[in-house]
Amino acid sequence: MAETGATGGEALIEARGLVKRFVTARSRITILDGADLFLEPGETLAVVGASGIGKSTLLHILGTLDRPEDGRLRIAGRAVEGLKAEALARLRNEKIGFVFQFHHLLPEFDALENAMMPCLIFGMPRRQAETAAADILARVGLSRRLRHRVVDLSGGEQQRVALARALVMHPPLLLADEPTGNLDKRNSQQVHELLAELNTDLGMAMVVVTHNPDLAALMARRATLVDGRLAPVE
Ligand SMILES: Nc1ncnc2c1ncn2[C@@H]1O[C@H](COP(=O)(O)OP(=O)(O)OP(=O)(O)O)[C@@H](O)[C@H]1O
Ligand SMILES: [Mg+2]
Repeated sequence: MAETGATGGEALIEARGLVKRFVTARSRITILDGADLFLEPGETLAVVGASGIGKSTLLHILGTLDRPEDGRLRIAGRAVEGLKAEALARLRNEKIGFVFQFHHLLPEFDALENAMMPCLIFGMPRRQAETAAADILARVGLSRRLRHRVVDLSGGEQQRVALARALVMHPPLLLADEPTGNLDKRNSQQVHELLAELNTDLGMAMVVVTHNPDLAALMARRATLVDGRLAPVE
């Protein structure tokens, strides 16, 4: 397996019995109710389905950005529940690239600075981080926007910067929430090609939430949430 690949044959994601409820003053809804998910290194999965069924919630839990009420989650062989904040942050930084549904970029920073942030957090020298960020920004078609502040970029460009930030460390696992949601057809296709390439060339595994049938078709498996559990769809 390539540089981003397997960790001694362990599953990259091993989630068992995830439970997540949201309780508000007016309602109590169960979004995940015993959801299981396994993903091997290099495997790809699309999560599809209607708005509000819990796709983003699931992805945030898999990305260790939110915690389930119950269930167990191992990422690259490490039990997430037992990790202290610092170890969890390191696991996220080294193993997971996350593309949010709403990109969460730093608006006053430029494209290059946003994309290189994970490298700086990792402790990479600034020069090297800049080179890595410039490379990946070029791959998403933004080599002429490196020094544009995020606020001066179009919605689709912002989404591509967010994708670059998720990919810059070449994580073994990419979790992407509607990565082409704001993109036109041409740019969507470009992102699809990039994702396919990252999977074949680097063995990058991915869980992609999408309403785009072309992107869903590109993943090896497709699943949706039914009664709080993952169920395969064709
Ligand atoms: N913090 C919260 N408090 C209360 N309810 C929440 C919270 N976060 C999400 N929900 C509810 O949980 C449900 C699932 O939300 P989620 O964002 O996971 O849906 P989704 O499948 O990603 O939808 P979309 O396709 O519109 O992005 C929704 O009904 C939402 O209103
Ligand atoms: Mg969502």
